[in-house]
Amino acid sequence: MESGMKRIQCELVDITTLDVDAIVNAANSSLLGGGGVDGAIHRAAGRGLVDECRTIGGCPTGEARITSGHNLLARYVIHTVGPIWSGGDRKEAELLAACYASCFQLLQDCQLQTIAFPAISTGVYGFPKKQAASIAVRETIKVLSANDSISLVLFAAFEAETTQIYRRLIADEAGG
Ligand code: APR
Repeated sequence: MESGMKRIQCELVDITTLDVDAIVNAANSSLLGGGGVDGAIHRAAGRGLVDECRTIGGCPTGEARITSGHNLLARYVIHTVGPIWSGGDRKEAELLAACYASCFQLLQDCQLQTIAFPAISTGVYGFPKKQAASIAVRETIKVLSANDSISLVLFAAFEAETTQIYRRLIADEAGG
């Protein structure tokens, strides 16, 4: 089994190009597509994705739903709905943590080993990048320390700033 910290990585990469078991989509509660990473994933997956999402009937904030990857390299897409930042006193931090926990729950339920996350809620939804990244890394370490069947968690950053934030957090955690 990989040592704990090597199982967490961050790359500056378009998540739709990754060959992992599941990529996570930062969706909205309709699950019917949108802009940002949601738009990129639906474009790369093809029309079959939105057709499958339509059969799910939406997803509440903080929860996640899994679909096939359709034309993506990734076998599955885990759609999660992050909180919209509104100052921090509407349980945004708890809801974002719940997104990561929900995605990991689905990964384990489906006995998958590798997953890639975008920086959920930090784009259109306005969640502060550093706080969001520390929630993501904290939730990931919690799951990896209890579960050795997950072999890779990749944070697919789309801006250099986000890459630096995640790499610093991962290095701090590795430093103990
Ligand atoms: N690969 C990886 N990350 C990406 C990609 C991509 N191809 N495209 C965008 N991102 C990054 C953004 O730069 C940001 O860091 O994903 C992060 C999340 O940003 P958004 O996609 O705007 O998602 P979010 O902030 O969670 O807002 C969700 O936006 O697109 C709509 O339908 C979506 O209503 C929902 C809302």
